[in-house]
Amino acid sequence: MERVYNFSAGPGVLPLAVLEQARDEMVVYKDSGMSVMEMSHRSKPYMAIIAQAESLLRELLAIPDNYAVLLLQGGASLQFSMLPMNLLTHPTQQSVDYILTGSWAEKAYGEAKKQCGDVRVAASSKAVNYSRIPTQAELTLNPQAAYLHITSNNTIFGTEYYYTPDSGGVPLVADISSNVLSRPMEISDYALLYAGAQKNLGPSGVTVVIVRKDLLGRRTDLPNMLDYKVHADNDSMFNTPPTYAIYILGLVLQWTKNQGGVAAMEQRNIRKAAKLYAAIDRSSYYQCPTEAISRSRMNVPFTLADPSQDATFLAEAKKAGLVTLAGHRSVGGMRASLYNAMPEEGVDALVTFMAEFERRHG
Ligand SMILES: Cc1ncc(COP(=O)(O)O)c(C=O)c1O
Repeated sequence: MERVYNFSAGPGVLPLAVLEQARDEMVVYKDSGMSVMEMSHRSKPYMAIIAQAESLLRELLAIPDNYAVLLLQGGASLQFSMLPMNLLTHPTQQSVDYILTGSWAEKAYGEAKKQCGDVRVAASSKAVNYSRIPTQAELTLNPQAAYLHITSNNTIFGTEYYYTPDSGGVPLVADISSNVLSRPMEISDYALLYAGAQKNLGPSGVTVVIVRKDLLGRRTDLPNMLDYKVHADNDSMFNTPPTYAIYILGLVLQWTKNQGGVAAMEQRNIRKAAKLYAAIDRSSYYQCPTEAISRSRMNVPFTLADPSQDATFLAEAKKAGLVTLAGHRSVGGMRASLYNAMPEEGVDALVTFMAEFERRHG
């Protein structure tokens, strides 16, 4: 069977070149005589793999030296809890701020409430079904907050920040799971950033945390596995790391660099998203539920004028080799995720299919 264009929100499409390289190296990696999966994480070839992955990530995101890069497990979801655990020194007496822009932001907020006595909502777009990102003027920030948490791209609702909130000196924390590496970002604006890998970074199973080193070690009572400092002190090797996922992460990062890095990715992502939004906007058959200036380049939700045709749309799209286009149940309709590894031809094929579908069914 031919490969399809996979518009999944995550785990999402990976670069074909990465999959082919992984295939070629699957049984015997370089001169090691074994698969990466079979290697001790402390072996020389593996130490080189993990060091290279971290170094590429630092280079691509221009991560300053005063930030630690941790390669952890547990997904972005574990970070919802590890974050307040590690950053708060007196959890029952401190306050934190959250901006609620979608389901993942809500989940992060919910987990924080279990760790912290006072979790405030600095802004929320719930009233408009998370169809927009609140502006700076809409934020009610607590200058005493231990941190302000944002979700830089809302995977389910298809919105993205195009400004960095001014937190007024309060440490800024971002869940960047679904737009990391899609465009340049100023790491030093943030105290901490985290991302599950399974969109622009690689396969599921590894989670990247980028944390300013002065924030490490605030608590001494945490279980080792939940303590950023323990992982930082051990170069993400406190226990067995997700070795194969980190190997693929390294290949994806090398591929990203070969494409011209995040600046080149951004240009390509702008073009891809613009093509799809233009196709939606010029038709009265398709609608996009998000506010124009908040529209995500990574996840594009859209609905059909007649929702009873959703199943037909999905079935015909699948026949055309365009898969995983069903929207999340909280939004309905369709969602096309256009991660870095989605080629422009995939977007072109989707746009052509949509026009044909409208002609036949609209
Ligand atoms: C923005 C965002 N945050 C968090 C998560 C949860 O990630 P994980 O499944 O790695 O825990 C996701 C998953 O899609 C996401 O899109």
